[in-house]
Amino acid sequence: MSILTKRNTLAAIVFTGVLSATGFLSLTAQAQDDGINTASFNDDGSVNQPVNWRKWVFVGAPLTPNALNDGKAPFPEFHNVYVEPSAFKAYESTGKWPEGTQIAKELTSIYQNDNDETGASSEVSGRGFQQGEFQGLELTVKDTKRFEDMPGGWAYFSFGHKPQPYEKTAMAFPAESCNACHAASAADDFVFTQFYPVLRAAKDSM
Ligand code: HEC
Repeated sequence: MSILTKRNTLAAIVFTGVLSATGFLSLTAQAQDDGINTASFNDDGSVNQPVNWRKWVFVGAPLTPNALNDGKAPFPEFHNVYVEPSAFKAYESTGKWPEGTQIAKELTSIYQNDNDETGASSEVSGRGFQQGEFQGLELTVKDTKRFEDMPGGWAYFSFGHKPQPYEKTAMAFPAESCNACHAASAADDFVFTQFYPVLRAAKDSM
């Protein structure tokens, strides 16, 4: 190795040292300091569609079919709810939702197969409601700094109430559109734990 190359190598090592010492390199790692995988946001304030939310922890699937809501349920589909795993782990050990929590709600239409007037179909398992196709994606994020104006720091997003492909990014709704109902009726820190047995079990296991 020539002296010049040695010097460059040394310079590179020193440079890297300075960068980590100044915290520059820890920018991306910051979110992981407390082990929570946070959502990614863009310069315009929009959030990016989460990645692999169907591999998150599945906590429940409320259903509010049209037939039971005068034919016009706001969300006539199954509401499949998934919690980002690192937030789930923190909830399991503390019973609280950590900063950076992400919870997704994906709608899936009712399975169609000669459905009767109630919207139910008769299947080998019996007459009832089965899951059909994906029909929309919503996300909530808890971030009391970024969303200091949102009660509880919870912001709510929709990537479309429609079949895939969903929108790639979404802006937070005003508090009165979403947050207000969660504040008024959700059992535990804006989350509808009363409908999610998996979350109640997680908290009970503390
Ligand atoms: C009238 C009350 C109400 C309003 C308004 C509302 N929600 Fe919800 N939301 C619920 C209920 C009830 C649940 C429980 C699961 C279910 O039945 O869908 C829920 C669950 C969720 C969840 C899963 C996590 C959790 O907190 O339980 C997300 C994500 C969500 N809603 C997003 C939104 C978005 C986005 C908006 C605004 C566009 C919104 N919600 C407006 C009642 C509401």
